[in-house]
Amino acid sequence: MESALRIVSVRCEYRVNPLGIDVLRPSFSWKLEAEARNVFQSAYRVVVATCENFKNIVWDSGKVLSDQSVHVEYEGQTLKPRTRYYYKVQVWDNRQNECWSEVVFWETGLLGETWTAEWITPGLETTACPLMRTTFSISKSVRSARIYVTALGLYELELNGVKVGDALFTPGWTAYNKRLQYQTYDITDFLSSGINVVGAILGNGWYKGRGWEGKTNLYGDKLALLCQIHVAYEDGSEDVFGTNENWRVAEGPILMSEIYHGETYDARLARKGWSRADYTDADWANALILKYPKDSIIAQEGVPVKAIETIKPVQIIHTPKGETVLDFGQNMVGWVRFSVEAAAGWKVILKHAEILDKDGNFYVDNLKTAQQTIIYTTKGEGREVYEPRFTFQGFRYVQLVEYPGTIQLDNFEGIVIHSDMEKTGTFACSNELVNQLQKNIVWGQKGNFLDIPTDCPQRDERLGWTGDAQVFARTACFNMDTALFFKKWLGDVKAEQMENGGVPLVIPNVFSAPVNTFISAGWSDVAVILPWTIYLCFGDVKILSEHYISMKAYVEYIRGVAEDEVLWNSGPHFGDWLALDAGDGSYKGATPKELVATAYYAYVTDILAKSAALLKQEQDEEFYRNLHRKIVEAYQQEFYTPKGRLAAQTQTAHVLSLMFDLVEEQNRQRTIDTLVRYLEENQWHLKTGFLGTPYLCHVLSRNGRADVAYKLLLATDYPSWLYQVTKGATTIWEHWDGVKEDGSFWSADMNSFNHYAYGAVGDWLYREVAGIELDESKPGYKRIVIKPALCTALTWAEAELESMYGLIKSRWKREEAGDVNLAVTIPPNTTAKITLPYAKRGSVTESGQTLESLPLVVEQDASGITVELASGSYNFSYAAEVDWIPDIPATIDKMPWE
Ligand code: BGC
Repeated sequence: MESALRIVSVRCEYRVNPLGIDVLRPSFSWKLEAEARNVFQSAYRVVVATCENFKNIVWDSGKVLSDQSVHVEYEGQTLKPRTRYYYKVQVWDNRQNECWSEVVFWETGLLGETWTAEWITPGLETTACPLMRTTFSISKSVRSARIYVTALGLYELELNGVKVGDALFTPGWTAYNKRLQYQTYDITDFLSSGINVVGAILGNGWYKGRGWEGKTNLYGDKLALLCQIHVAYEDGSEDVFGTNENWRVAEGPILMSEIYHGETYDARLARKGWSRADYTDADWANALILKYPKDSIIAQEGVPVKAIETIKPVQIIHTPKGETVLDFGQNMVGWVRFSVEAAAGWKVILKHAEILDKDGNFYVDNLKTAQQTIIYTTKGEGREVYEPRFTFQGFRYVQLVEYPGTIQLDNFEGIVIHSDMEKTGTFACSNELVNQLQKNIVWGQKGNFLDIPTDCPQRDERLGWTGDAQVFARTACFNMDTALFFKKWLGDVKAEQMENGGVPLVIPNVFSAPVNTFISAGWSDVAVILPWTIYLCFGDVKILSEHYISMKAYVEYIRGVAEDEVLWNSGPHFGDWLALDAGDGSYKGATPKELVATAYYAYVTDILAKSAALLKQEQDEEFYRNLHRKIVEAYQQEFYTPKGRLAAQTQTAHVLSLMFDLVEEQNRQRTIDTLVRYLEENQWHLKTGFLGTPYLCHVLSRNGRADVAYKLLLATDYPSWLYQVTKGATTIWEHWDGVKEDGSFWSADMNSFNHYAYGAVGDWLYREVAGIELDESKPGYKRIVIKPALCTALTWAEAELESMYGLIKSRWKREEAGDVNLAVTIPPNTTAKITLPYAKRGSVTESGQTLESLPLVVEQDASGITVELASGSYNFSYAAEVDWIPDIPATIDKMPWE
């Protein structure tokens, strides 16, 4: 029989049994499972040892009377490098149950040990990707072996003819000159007694490939490898083999490899068995030692990029122009794996595009200079299978420029590649177009979360634009477990922060002067907003302490440039980027940039004050509270008329004022009414850009106008979220009018069809439509708020979120007669405040029982009944006050005065 209480998903630093953790005081989290309701943890104990039988204990927390089950910090003996620590957790609940977790482990990496290996560089004058190899000998019985490895450029590692690990694009993209990640692999099972071979293929990647503005060598002009193999023998002795001048080097068959441009591969040049012991490297050259610092090398922080799924092409298209094109049915990011059978010297040439033009022809103009081209030359020895390594493409369509033999769909597969984040959220509702929108949002996240959060994955950009990440972060935290992904990138945000506290527009910062020092509201603010978002969604206060100095420096930067320290009315700024009220020829929306900048200034100052409070920085807290108050006053004086009208007549000005609470209470209603009027005047359509759009539906539903928010969400004509869905989008477009009504494109300039920014509405789907919200005072969903916004436009909606505490579910359904059903799941060790919209006391049952018979706190007000409860699954049914459920505003073709 299953026990009444179980501990699952025990993690160290968010990971299950990780290797290479260089954190001095790692944190542990676990989840509880129980069939009973109202289960809480009343105490925990963590025991850590260096052996699996726990004889050698290095930390025993003892029984701690606490309900803390996430981010419990290690407080034991000083951790040693390259050591496996076993740990287990014991938990007591509020019902006299007690249990142990299974034994799990984490392993430290080099943990500050000096690298004994040397950086080596191939020293070849070629664009071909070099191969580097060496042999080493094992003569004793091996207990365990690890390899620690990094590169300047990208590397793929092989041991005795086998690829090591399944991570791609290693060592990842960071601000290389300040932070360079190394990876740790367990290679115990790769070794054999006698001669072993370790080898690496290197690619230019982000380090020295052709990058932003066509520049090469952004970080350096030499590829290099650094690796260290530690072999521990059964007899207790150890050997270390590292990169040194004895390594051998040769050109490999990848003749060209570039992130934007693709790969050229000549299979005839493949060196068969090059990383095996029976291969002779007599004609190879020796590697050269490279003097390059090792002090900025850090353990892998993010999640590895991997090939996550495979999709098959759905059809072969012959375009009017005569092109042969494969349609993968989905705008995706990764590459094509293909097979081919031909005599030696034939070519397969693939070009990748996101979209076909109006006439159905292959369209690549929006890729700008990115070539996205794979050129493969056959070897002629039967069936050959190829997929690239150090490049990725954003595409739905693949033109077969050359392909020998008959084209069969079966010979092609789309390999979807992104950072390997656990899927944590789902959303669905009764409207299929909205469901497709949700799918598109998720695909936008997959395509743009490839080691760093990018703006787009296809054209010659693919940069870590701070604004895009900032607006999408909250949505991203629903769909997938982004904690480590963002933590790693935030490390670079901090590393790239300028001395004056300013934060660059893209991270890693690849811009050259003067753009590399521009600051823009809504973009640079990521330095404050993102740590706060991670704190809220994952309950991780450590992220705030790690970034507090950086957050404060950024706010201080603004204070330094702001007029009277309160009005941020200087600087370039992107404003409400791509808003539809932009003037002719401009990308910047009509909302005054001073208003946008000051609004964000208030917002980040408020976050800083709250963070100061959490971190017990009392003086700072008081200072920034006051500063925040003064900014809000200044905002009101500057941007509101004395009678309480917002002078800037744009949707976004109203959205930001409401969202960031910059409105005097007596002017709130007028501000919301004016926003609604603007929307109505625009035939119930938005005009907002990057900064207004994410909050538009939120401010409406929070201010009693969920009906209008639904109206915007469900609109299918231009401009709207569903307009692009009806145009066949399978990802989120950069522009509302990426494809116009007549099928023509907005422009070839800057027209990405995989840009997640407008997908930030996903956050509203989860938080308002399905109603899964967190309580800021108990973040990480320790206290959950369930309050769906019902509307007659949908008959049901549901969302799930695998939180740090376990699975949260909310599903509502309206029956024809007006009955409402709300099914909710709350994980153990959390509480929830649940609102049953439009319910009346006396009419509600929960799993067949009257509500009053349950041990709940019940409150009734105009919005419905609110109950407070703890873990369990609950099924509420009630006859709703049907007339209260809002309907979406009627469609109007013309305004009355027209
Ligand atoms: C990017 C955007 C980015 C913007 C900055 C564009 O080129 O694709 O998404 O935020 O520049 O204004």
